[in-house]
Amino acid sequence: MRVLGIESSCDETAVAVYDADLGLLAHRLHSQIAMHQAYGGVVPELASRDHVRRLLPLVREVLHDARSDRESIDGIAYTAGPGLIGALLVGAGFATALSAAWGRPAVGIHHLEGHLLAPLLEPDAPSFPFLALLVSGGHTQLVDVEALGAYRILGETLDDAVGEAFDKTAKLMGLPYPGGAALAKLAESGRSDRFVFPRPMLDRPGLEFSFSGLKTAALVALRGRVLDDAIRADVARGFQEAVVETLAEKCRRALELSGHRRLVIAGGVGANVRLRERLAQVAQGAGARLYFPRAEFCTDNGAMIALAGCMRLAAGMRQDAPIGARANWELGSIGA
Ligand code: KG4
Ligand code: ZN
Repeated sequence: MRVLGIESSCDETAVAVYDADLGLLAHRLHSQIAMHQAYGGVVPELASRDHVRRLLPLVREVLHDARSDRESIDGIAYTAGPGLIGALLVGAGFATALSAAWGRPAVGIHHLEGHLLAPLLEPDAPSFPFLALLVSGGHTQLVDVEALGAYRILGETLDDAVGEAFDKTAKLMGLPYPGGAALAKLAESGRSDRFVFPRPMLDRPGLEFSFSGLKTAALVALRGRVLDDAIRADVARGFQEAVVETLAEKCRRALELSGHRRLVIAGGVGANVRLRERLAQVAQGAGARLYFPRAEFCTDNGAMIALAGCMRLAAGMRQDAPIGARANWELGSIGA
């Protein structure tokens, strides 16, 4: 079973070929960040048009890299949602057209299922079941992963996603969009005792999150000050510590409640080194093991979509839907 995967839910056009026996054969990605940076965020219409321009050349390149041709591809997986509807429709339309031309099934993948399964791209992959902390630009969820397609949301954010909080705080500090990774870099040289920000929702039981107040706390800390490098680094450090401590405590509780022995970090914020360090300690304290994909498979990529498609097709979970894309789509409802 060999699957071509296509990701186009937001501002990355990404394509990969995954083989059930040989693993990941090739992956390529074109980031639109430079194009959107002038606007301080993703412009949906520009995103869709750029996906149209990039997809076909990327597919050609990735097939070449994978030493594959259309004959050797058994299915085409594409991100069907959630995301920007125009961007999703470009990938869905493209995948459906390839499916018709090549006579191979197209399978629509939930973007977050892609993120959840990304650690399985690594040699030391977790087996089911596991607990996953899914932290991206659009989502923050603790997910009980029983098996392929069996996902139960244990807790999620009531307002901003973690990546969104990172990006908004980075913007306050004058960093270009999306500033999450740059803020994390700044935090490395900051002092941890200068700004101590609140740890949202830790005083309440449960596994819900809230991050919008942290951005306001950072705004208040920065107000009226000259934004020199030292201040920015100290605020970045204080902000990151508050986020990481909050996520760590919720993961500790979720491990205790669920009894899982495997903890997986997935999604773009999973690239954060401090978060990985802290969650490794939490996992160890709970007698569990921590798993995460390499940084390039934490953020959006085609490999995770090709892998998810391969697993679904191999398990007989075929979806021969017409061109399908959904801007809003609950992970807990996708099923097998
Ligand atoms: O999963 P992803 O690539 O896209 C979505 O599905 O949202 O996640 C992107 C998010 C952005 O908010 C970005 O700033 C954040 O992940 N991010 C980071 C780091 N690298 C990426 N946040 C904190 N630390 C990082 N090292
Ligand atoms: Zn994503």
